[in-house]
This record gives sequence, C-alpha cells and structure tokens, in this order.
Amino acid sequence: MTDRIPPSGLPLASHAPGKAILFGEHAVVFGKTAVVLALDMGTDLEISGLRGTGSGTYNGSERAARANPYLQTSLLAHPPPQPLDLRCRSQLPRASGLGSSAAFTAGLMTALLGMEGGAERTTLALESFRAERQAQGVGSPVDTSAAVAGGVLSVGARAPGDKLWELPAEDGRPAWHVARLPDPGWTWVVGFTGVPKDTATVVRRVGERVKAPDGPRLLEQIDSLALQGCDALRAGDRAAVGRLMNENQRQLVELGISHPRLDDLMRSVEKLAVGAKITGAGGGGSIIVLPCPGDELRVGQAISHAGGVPFVVKVAARGASVQPLTGGPQPPGTGGRRA
Ligand code: MEV
Repeated sequence: MTDRIPPSGLPLASHAPGKAILFGEHAVVFGKTAVVLALDMGTDLEISGLRGTGSGTYNGSERAARANPYLQTSLLAHPPPQPLDLRCRSQLPRASGLGSSAAFTAGLMTALLGMEGGAERTTLALESFRAERQAQGVGSPVDTSAAVAGGVLSVGARAPGDKLWELPAEDGRPAWHVARLPDPGWTWVVGFTGVPKDTATVVRRVGERVKAPDGPRLLEQIDSLALQGCDALRAGDRAAVGRLMNENQRQLVELGISHPRLDDLMRSVEKLAVGAKITGAGGGGSIIVLPCPGDELRVGQAISHAGGVPFVVKVAARGASVQPLTGGPQPPGTGGRRA
C-alpha cells in the first residue's frame, strides 16, 4: 500500500477497524504465520485542541487520559503541539479479542502523524505497533497491521501474498512480514463471550506452555496450517477454510487458551458452521464462525441463546483514516451490526 496519511489540522476525526484472527494467533508472536481480517466494525475518534499546558482529556476526563496506556505511549512517541481533547466511540467491546486496543492506537496514531504533516502508511504501521507493544509489553504486529491496512492480511516471517511492509522483532527473532491476501467477500459471525481477557497475561502463559517438549512442534503445525489457510483463501475455497479453522481450534485448545464460555459458544454453532474457532488471545474473548451459506442469522441466534453477543461482520477494505472535522454531525463509522 503506497498511499500516505494526509496532513490534518485540529479538530479532526479518525477511524480504524477492529480485527478477527482467522489462523495462527499466539504462534505469530514467535514469527509463525497468522491470517487476520479487518472488520467492518471499529473505533472512531474525534480530537480537538485544548488551551493551556495540561495533559489533555479522554472522554472529558484528565484522569482517564492519564490511565490509558495506549494514549500515553502514542503521545510520548509523537507529542502534539497542544493538549488534546479526545472523544472515543467504539463498536468493539474492550478485551474481546476484536482488536479494540489496536484500533484505538492506530486511529490515534493516524491523527498524530496527520498533525505532524502526514506520513507513509508503513510509518503508521510501525509507529502503531511500537505504541501498542510498549503499552502491552508483549505481542506481534498482527492487530495493529489489520487496523492500519484493512482487508485480509498474512503476518509472519514468511507471510504469503502481496507484500505491504516488514516490522522488526526483538531478541534476534526474524522480522514480521505483512502481506495482503484477497478477501473472498464472505459474511462471518463473531460471538463475544462477555468474558474480558487480558492479552498480555494469556500471551505470557502461552510463552510458558510452548517451552514444553511438544511446544515447538505445535507452533510448527500451526504455521503449516496457516500457510494452507492462505492458499485456501486465495482459492476462495470455503470448505477448506472452514476445515482449517476447525483444525486450528483443536491446536488452540492444546495451547491451553480455551475457557468454559468459549466452549459453550463453540458448541452452540457446531451444526450451523463450516468452521469455527477462538479468535485472538482466548482465555475469554470471542469466537469467529464461518457459517454455512445462508445461516448467518441462525448462527447469530445460536450464539445469543448460548449467552454470547453476536456480530455479523464482513471484511473492511480500508484501514485507518483521518479527516478534518468541519463542524456539524459527522458521518458514522463503517458500521458493524449486532445480529
Ligand atoms: C491477539 O489479538 C493476538 C495474539 O497472537 C497476540 C499478538 O499477536 O500480539 C494472541
């Protein structure tokens, strides 16, 4: 993607999409392949300047601004010319596995780089990853890349597809490559358990789990499956994508990231899905379902009856964007729908 983030003065509005990981969460932290979908539900920010020298406000509160680690790491990296008043509206439940932190960080970083006169999108990808990573302490660029690029992406040391950018890893690990895959145009259903998860805690737990003798083999198997997933998506082969999702789910259970509420939701969609799996860190959070064609709403109802919150979603083609705010009502975000 070669487009630039345009220059933007205050006040401004930015938008960034959420994400669902289709294959390879956790393994991607170790450089293995993951496939991620940017979702047509995301986060909208409205930002204006404040007079004086204060630390700025988040949804009207100075304390909330100070307590938001993603806000703080972003502002530290790219200090704005004056204190900011930040208003956030998000369709993404927090700690749901749907990339709310990444969408917030990428949306804010787009605004900060816009205020600095604009930037290449690759710079936005790097800066969003750094700010999220610094706030979280662990993790890969999978979530922020989806928020920045939109569409369907592969991420990892190999990353098949049309290359977008490369992001450095620490500890001598290979860099993450990020590439674009085609969007088959399908409708997906996400089911949120309502149980918030803490990504950093689950990622650290998995870090311990893969030190077991079978850990490296499991990571290799996830990598190989995600690479097959890239081929299946390129071929638009719905049955193969679903089969690989089910197989990836078994691997995620072996990694130890399931939760009784995730198991309930998985059972509820069994008969209506081509494929279903945990999406994101797990330990709570959400599942993603590829429904049998025409069964999207029935899948949503099944998730609802099992006590989850369903979202019927498609891939968002566009990544993070910024535009000046000229007053009057703003156009709403790109609109994820609750089933
Ligand atoms: C979280 O959305 C995905 C994980 O793989 C962590 C990461 O890649 O940063 C669990």
